This record gives sequence, structure tokens and C-alpha cells, in this order.
Amino acid sequence: MPATLIVGTQWGDEGKAKIIDYLSEETEIVVRYQGGANAGHTVMVGEEKYVFHLIPSGILYPNTICVLGGGMVIDPEALFEEMEALERRGIQTRGRIRIADNAHLLLPYHRQIDILREEMAKESRIGTTKRGIGVCYGDKVNRWGIRIGDLFSDNFFEKRLPMLVEMKNAILTRLYETNPIKFAELKDYLLSLRSRLKEFVINVPYYLNLELASGKKVLLEGAQGTMLDVDFGTYPYVTSSNPTTGGAITGSGISFHYLNEVIGITKAYTTRVGEGPFPTEEKGEVGEKIRQIGQEYGATTGRPRRCGWFDCEVVRHAARVNGLTALALTKLDVLDQFPVIKMGIGYELNGKRISHFPTYDADQVQVIYEEFPGWLEPINECRHFDELPKNAKKYIHAIEKFTGIPIRYLSVGPGRDNTIKIR
Ligand code: GDP
Ligand code: IMO
Ligand code: MG
Repeated sequence: MPATLIVGTQWGDEGKAKIIDYLSEETEIVVRYQGGANAGHTVMVGEEKYVFHLIPSGILYPNTICVLGGGMVIDPEALFEEMEALERRGIQTRGRIRIADNAHLLLPYHRQIDILREEMAKESRIGTTKRGIGVCYGDKVNRWGIRIGDLFSDNFFEKRLPMLVEMKNAILTRLYETNPIKFAELKDYLLSLRSRLKEFVINVPYYLNLELASGKKVLLEGAQGTMLDVDFGTYPYVTSSNPTTGGAITGSGISFHYLNEVIGITKAYTTRVGEGPFPTEEKGEVGEKIRQIGQEYGATTGRPRRCGWFDCEVVRHAARVNGLTALALTKLDVLDQFPVIKMGIGYELNGKRISHFPTYDADQVQVIYEEFPGWLEPINECRHFDELPKNAKKYIHAIEKFTGIPIRYLSVGPGRDNTIKIR
């Protein structure tokens, strides 16, 4: 049985969790493969709202196994908090969560440095979620990180930890002029994590490839989105991991042979949180109207999201770098009340049409728009494509035409029921 990948095609918050939840009913294993508690993944079940940060959104179905893959950076306190909150609401997590032994531990000093670094950067800050993500991935790439598996190695505690603390302290005290880490305290804390995490920790590539070979159905859950990818996004205004298809392979360890579906989650308009270029952004009334109707406030930080029109160049870029096989178009209902809907179909830079999303000077492009008449009626009760108003169908077909990718799922409301399978 092959694996299906769910990936964000814009700047995150495309409604990935809603689609993951929809697809999880028929899935046995759901895997998060990158990012950390910067993610905010919302699932609505009736009136009940669940927001996941580290735990895969498939946890709401009682028989799914949820895996935190090796490409993640895991804040253990945030994880325990999330597990306990779910248990309090009657969702069993014990026995259903597996954590990769090669995932990196995100510790309090990562969060502390993230905050200090953003303060120091002033006007050139990234606008991070302050969850320590970039600092933890920085340590990983610098080979200063602590993996979950290291907790079980006495050798690590004796030989590597003293050197790591020494280097981290030089940075904390000299660069950030703040208090050093106390070695004994950190060591005790890490030893306590050894016993608290032991029951969850496995070798994920071994487990997943075995399960896939035996016919289990696996769903890979991306966090963030293509335009926040450290390699393919609007660098440096990006996160520090690879939400795109390559990251799904390295962050889970499954063989690429198993991957036969890459579904790009695409909002019917565009949003972004934090700083950085956003060509189709609407800073005035239109943006505010989208924000209010779409309730575009961050699920992790509560920050208002920047809003604007659908941008085909962004989604074409996502189609290219992810190898998208289908799209799921979400939040189409949010456009119900717009008499005219605009769509960015391409860019000009210095008066010349350009053929792809630019790697630099993305804040300098002029967007070429096409206008579509709105449908001006509620669509959240529609359950079949045929029931949609004519103008909504035209808008959907235009997205398929300009992105070159077929739309397989349509989301017309936050609930499980507000979903239309097209093909
Ligand atoms: P994710 O990070 O990609 O999982 O998305 P978020 O959870 O951060 O943001 C998506 C928000 O839109 C959540 O509040 C969802 O409940 C909501 N949502 C998802 N799909 C739809 C939809 O089709 N219509 C409406 N109105 N809301 C939706
Ligand atoms: P989900 O999975 C939207 C943004 C931050 C900031 C940049 C870097 O819910 O779609 P970081 O804390 O990762 O170093 O911040 O990335 N960002 C997100 N924006 N959705 C997310 O996750 C995000 N995770 C990070 O706002 O601009
Ligand atoms: Mg989100």
C-alpha cells in the first residue's frame, strides 16, 4: 500500500489538518516529518475544536498510530502538555504515539535564543513563532544538537554533553549577555526525559518501511508550506526545515518508491503570518474582509494573518518542487460574499513578464490579475460539485487551468462534513 503526502502550497495555514483529518479515517499511520510546535493544525469535529502543534492530526481516529518523524524538532514540554490536554478530552494518546530516535530535542535555551535573536534583529526580524525552531535546526546542522536517541546513551552524557554546554554557554553569555546553562541542572533534566520518553522512542525508518511493506496505509502530514521552505521559500523569511516533498522523505525515512500521491493543500486565497514578500497581499479593506470572514488569526500565536488574493505563480512553484499529483482547495466558502474575486495569474519584474516565482526581489514584482464574478451565495451546504453555483465552478476551473493540477477535494467549511470529493 503506498503512502500519501499532504503538503502546504502557500505560506502555511492552508487547512492541511482539516484534510488530514478527512483522510485519516481510512489511514493506519499518520506521520509528521518536519517542523515543531511552530505548527498550529486545526480540526473541527462538530463544535469541538482541536489545535495540534506536534501530534499528527490523525490522532482523533482511535485506531491510527501517530508518528513524530526524525525531521522534527520536538519540545518535550509542549508534547507532554498536548498529550495531557488530549487525554483530558477523552482522546487516548498512550500506546498510539511513536517518536523517532533521530528527531532533535528542542530545549528551553532554543526558545530563549529565538526570542533574543528576534529582538536583536529589530527591523530585519523574521517574525518567528518564538518556539525556538530556527535555533534548534541551527544546532542540528552545526552538529551541536541533542537527538532524542542520545538520551539513552551514557556515552553521550559523558563525552558530548559537557562540550555542547560549554559552546552554548559561550554564545549565551558573550553574544546574548544572558545567564549560562547550569550543566548539572540540564543533565538531570535530560535524564528525567530519558524515563519519560522511553516508551515512545523507536527507529522510524525501520518501523515505517516494514509497515508499508506489509500493506499499511500511511499519510505524511506536512507542517508550514512550500513558500516557508528553507530552500524553496522566500528566504530568509522562511522556517528552518523542508516542508516540501524532499523533506517528507528525509524527515520520515520512507523509501521514495512508496510515495505515489502528493496532495497540495491550497487556500482559495492567500495568507501569510510574519514578515516577508507576499505579492498578492491586500493591505486595505479587501484584506480585512478576508481576515474577518476567514477568521485569519494564527492558531499558534494568535497573530492576525496577512491576507490577499489567490496567487497562481505560488501554486505553480509548489506544483513543480513537490511533484503535486492533485490539489485540495480549501476555504472556498470564505469568498461567498465577494462580488468580484481577483486571481494573480503571473508576474512582471522591471516591466518584463517572468516565468516563475523569483528567488530574489520577490517583493518587487507586479502581479497580473484576472477578475472573476463572485457567486454571492453560501456554499457550505454543498456536498457535490454539481451543487456549486456556476461562478464558483468557473473559479475552480480557472485554478486548475492556471496551475495545471487537478483539484480532487474542495473544502467549503471547517467541519468534517463540509468537504466535497470531486474525482
Ligand atoms: P493548517 O495549519 O494548514 O492545518 O491550517 P490552520 O488550522 O492553521 O488554519 C486553517 C483554519 O481554517 C482553521 O481554523 C480551520 O478550522 C479552518 N478551515 C479549514 N478549512 C476550511 C474551510 O473550507 N472553510 C472555512 N471557513 N474554514 C476552514
Ligand atoms: P502551519 O503548520 C504559518 C512562519 C512564522 C514566520 C516563519 C518562521 O500551521 O501551517 P519559525 O517559528 O518557524 O522560525 O517562523 O514561519 N510559520 C508559519 N506560518 N503556518 C505555520 O505552520 C507556520 N510555522 C511557521 O510566522 O514567518
Ligand atoms: Mg496552521
